[in-house]
Amino acid sequence: MQENQSHQHAAPEGSAPLPPPDQFWDGFYRESTQVWSGNPNALLVREVEGLKPGTALELGCGEGADAVWLAKQGWDVTGMDISAVALERAFAHAREAGVENLVTLVEADLADWSATDSGTDHGYDLVCAQFLHSPTDLPRNAILQRAVSAVAPRGRLLVVGHQGFPPWGRHPVPDPALPTAEELAAELGLAERGWIIETAEAIPRTVQGPEGQEAVIHDNVLLARRGA
Ligand SMILES: C[S@@+](CC[C@H](N)C(=O)[O-])C[C@H]1O[C@@H](n2cnc3c(N)ncnc32)[C@H](O)[C@@H]1O
Repeated sequence: MQENQSHQHAAPEGSAPLPPPDQFWDGFYRESTQVWSGNPNALLVREVEGLKPGTALELGCGEGADAVWLAKQGWDVTGMDISAVALERAFAHAREAGVENLVTLVEADLADWSATDSGTDHGYDLVCAQFLHSPTDLPRNAILQRAVSAVAPRGRLLVVGHQGFPPWGRHPVPDPALPTAEELAAELGLAERGWIIETAEAIPRTVQGPEGQEAVIHDNVLLARRGA
């Protein structure tokens, strides 16, 4: 995949253009007092439970359920997101859970982020991104390339993402198609760099639409470990 290719997507033809990403996501979060469930993503829990805690960087942490779960497991977490509204909720969530001392939240546009300003000289023991997708412009591939550089020796990269979206909702059909976990590992050049692929799977999930309709979508999970 080309470095400048974005996995996300102009507004569908005929609809009004979307606002810039920060405004879009602040508006999205303001639509309700809590957008997500507050529970951590099941695939994050499945892949990280049992790992020895260390430092973690979460890209696109949203309202903070995953960052708080990581902190409760003993990880020292930095969460980054473009939405100040989401980060305020993430901070409140961390404080309620009594783990605010283990959670650092950074408002940043990941399109402009680089691993060298990620807050550590040595890299993180875990860099993760759960559902880092956006209907507005998001150079996801370039961001994940930088995520690879932010992993410490012997550390891990975890990417959980959609393989597709249900036919309802605001996400247009991704063009180019979203990569499978194996394709993502290849795009990131992990094997050539001596990384060990620990998990590369597509997990089916049944989702319900606003009118009770059902669809099976797949979530991709890639967990890879950097060599020494
Ligand atoms: C689909 S949500 C997923 C949130 C969370 N990871 C989860 O699984 O619940 C995508 C998140 O990415 C954030 N995001 C989108 N574009 C971004 C960008 N350019 N820089 C930083 N964060 C961004 C959004 O604000 C949102 O919180």
